[in-house]
Amino acid sequence: MIVAVDGTTASGKGTIAKALAARFSLPHLDTGLLYRAVGRQCWLDGGDPDDPVAALAACAFPEGLLADPELRSEETGGLASRVSVHPTVRRALFERQRAFALQPGGAVLDGRDIGTVIAPEAEVKLFVIASVEARARRRFLEMQAQGREVSLEDIATDLAARDERDRNRKDAPLVAADDAVVLDTSELGREEAIAEAIGLVKRRYAQTHGIPASKGI
Ligand code: DC
Repeated sequence: MIVAVDGTTASGKGTIAKALAARFSLPHLDTGLLYRAVGRQCWLDGGDPDDPVAALAACAFPEGLLADPELRSEETGGLASRVSVHPTVRRALFERQRAFALQPGGAVLDGRDIGTVIAPEAEVKLFVIASVEARARRRFLEMQAQGREVSLEDIATDLAARDERDRNRKDAPLVAADDAVVLDTSELGREEAIAEAIGLVKRRYAQTHGIPASKGI
């Protein structure tokens, strides 16, 4: 079973994807991390993330970079959003994501274009959203817990700018697939969002296999 979990930054899609992978014993790929590695490598090279040539060169990042904690920072997230606009970068990362999706037994992938471009045949597609206010609040609390000084307004402005860029890029923009189920986590706690997602996957699986939900996974 391929499960595609797409959605906006800080919507909770990563947490949900990880939990679904554990619950259904499937391997999980956070595809945003690949774009983050490209953004970070471009910065390390002293390149301009808005320049398609510099961004493409950064796609040859060393595998070890994927373990760099700096990839999780807001700064790297911004760089990732900028390099991800270039079609050549998206093409360079396509095969790796596609191969992961098609491995025997299936997989869970989270990102922006999994249900539309990487694995349009996915049996289950979730599109996770949350209001800018809810997402900014979550990020703010996360960063405060890490002892970082940040302003809620700055985070909200940054998230809105990133959404705008992800939604309006020409190649593989952030958009829900026609057959995706939208899950709004604005008013949900972590465990509630996960429980809701597990229920959606079970119902979808039963539907596509023409079996009662009680007999499914
Ligand atoms: O999910 P994330 O915040 O780690 O993603 C960082 C950026 O990477 C995001 O702003 C857009 C880009 N991205 C993408 O274009 N396509 C994906 N499948 C995943 C991420």
